[in-house]
Formats: sequence, C-alpha cells, structure tokens
Amino acid sequence: MLLLEGRTALVTGAGGRLGRRIVARLAAEGASVAALDLDREAAERAPAARSCAVVADVRDPDAVENAVAAAENEIGPLDVLVNAHGIFPNRPVLDITAPRWDEVFAVNVRGTMLACQAVARRWVERGTRGAIVTISSGAATSARAGGAHYAGSKAAVNMLVHTLAIELGPHGIRVNAVAPGLVLDEVLTSGEGQPPYFEAMLRATPLRRTGDADDVAQAVAFLASDRSAWTTGAILEVTGGSHCGRTHVPYSGDLQ
Ligand SMILES: NC(=O)c1ccc[n+]([C@@H]2O[C@H](COP(=O)([O-])OP(=O)(O)OC[C@H]3O[C@@H](n4cnc5c(N)ncnc54)[C@H](O)[C@@H]3O)[C@@H](O)[C@H]2O)c1
Repeated sequence: MLLLEGRTALVTGAGGRLGRRIVARLAAEGASVAALDLDREAAERAPAARSCAVVADVRDPDAVENAVAAAENEIGPLDVLVNAHGIFPNRPVLDITAPRWDEVFAVNVRGTMLACQAVARRWVERGTRGAIVTISSGAATSARAGGAHYAGSKAAVNMLVHTLAIELGPHGIRVNAVAPGLVLDEVLTSGEGQPPYFEAMLRATPLRRTGDADDVAQAVAFLASDRSAWTTGAILEVTGGSHCGRTHVPYSGDLQ
C-alpha cells in the first residue's frame, strides 16, 4: 500500500531543489500533486505523473487564493499542503538592508502563513482532516554568522507551525515541519579537497555527509501520511545530526 494513495497535495516552491524531489516523492507514494512556484518554467518542470502547475507569488494573498482554487480545479479538493518555497540570503547584520530583511520575512513567513490560511480555511469549512508540512530549517534553532534574517524567519515559521497545530488540531488538521540541515544537489562526504566551509560542515555533521533532497522528501511523505496520525506540532530535524548540539566540540576526556 502506497503512503499517499488517493491523496491530493499542493506543493509550493515546487520548482526548487527540495520542491522537485518532494513532488516526485509524493507522486511516487500515490498522490496527485499540484506544483506551485513563482516561476512558471520551474513549476512546469516539477516531475509528477498526475500533476498540474500553478504560478503564484506566495506573498500575495489573492494570488495564493487563486492558485489554491486553480489547483483544486485540476486535481480535486486538497488534503495535503507542503510549503517548500523560501529564500535564504546570507549577510552580516551590519550589511542587511531594510527591504532585504522585509523580503525574507515576507516570502518565508507571510507566504507560509498565507498558504496555510488559504488551504486550512477550506478544510475547516469542509471538515477535511488535512495535513500541512512546512520546510523549516535547522537554522531556526541554531544561529550562524550571516543568518539573522533567514534564521529569524525560520524561527517564526516554527512558531507558526506550533500555533497552527494548536488552532487546527480540534478540526483534525495536523501541522508539522521538517527542519533540514545542509542539502546539496550532489551529496558530499568528508574527505580531502572539499572547500573549507564544507569541510567544517562535514566535521560537525555526525553522519559525515550532506543531505540529499530525497532525505527531506521521505520525511515530508511520512508527516503528510496517516503513518504520523498522532503527530502534530512537531519539527522533525533531518540534518545528519548537525544541529544536535555543539557537534564541533571534540571529546575532552583525555584532557582531564
Ligand atoms: N537546500 C537546503 O540546504 C535547505 C536547508 C534547510 C532549509 N531549506 C529550506 O527549504 C526550502 C526550499 O529550499 P531549496 O533548497 O529547494 O531552495 P530553491 O531556491 O532551490 O527553491 C525555492 C523555490 O521557491 C520558489 N520561490 C521563491 N520565492 C517565492 C515566492 N515568493 N512565491 C512562490 N515561490 C517562491 C523559487 O522559485 C524556488 O523554485 C526553503 O524554505 C529553504 O529555506 C533548504
């Protein structure tokens, strides 16, 4: 039995590195998938057997509303929403401009809230016991230089997930997140010759490899499915362990 047989899912950011693989995984698990992206070409590239592409800027409430209606027109009433859109600039606070700060929060937080709101309003009205899965980030709980706007926006996303879990739980709607670590197109493992940033990241990742997009997509499929029927308000870290704690600190027993 496939995990999502007969389900209908809307995936935002569907043309992105993670979005594409999430669309493919949900389709492989039996779901019909509507692929939403800001970029039409990217949305149409999303790989799913039973898919449709919708274009919207998630910052715009009317565009989100129209996109949800268009998706339901094509694949039927939704029962899964995956928020996989996002932007992740890297800048020290001293160099961040106010418009850039606002843009990060508008896409990552407001956009996620609007997509959840548009879909959940329909579910509450219809009595649909739907599932929302949002891609957060390990950065939400672990600061690093250059990440004030991004990490701050993902911390807000985590709080949105918790709040929605409380508000929508009584309607049978589950709201969870996956918080990935570093996911790259080509998985890197530790070894000589990596650029210094990746070497440092790999040393601080207990499983000693970067993530593959399907590592994230598998977690999304689980949280979208009935396998996680009693899970809501969870932020599932899929990081190879990189955000467990002070992973770069070596064993100190020999010093005592
Ligand atoms: N790749 C990683 O290592 C990683 C790690 C942790 C978290 N994440 C999170 O996962 C999500 C996806 O990341 P990715 O690596 O696939 O990025 P990506 O840039 O490859 O894809 C993001 C997609 O979102 C779309 N998008 C951007 N702004 C939009 C808007 N206003 N409206 C609609 N669509 C919009 C883009 O067109 C793009 O297709 C993001 O939220 C990111 O913060 C990624």
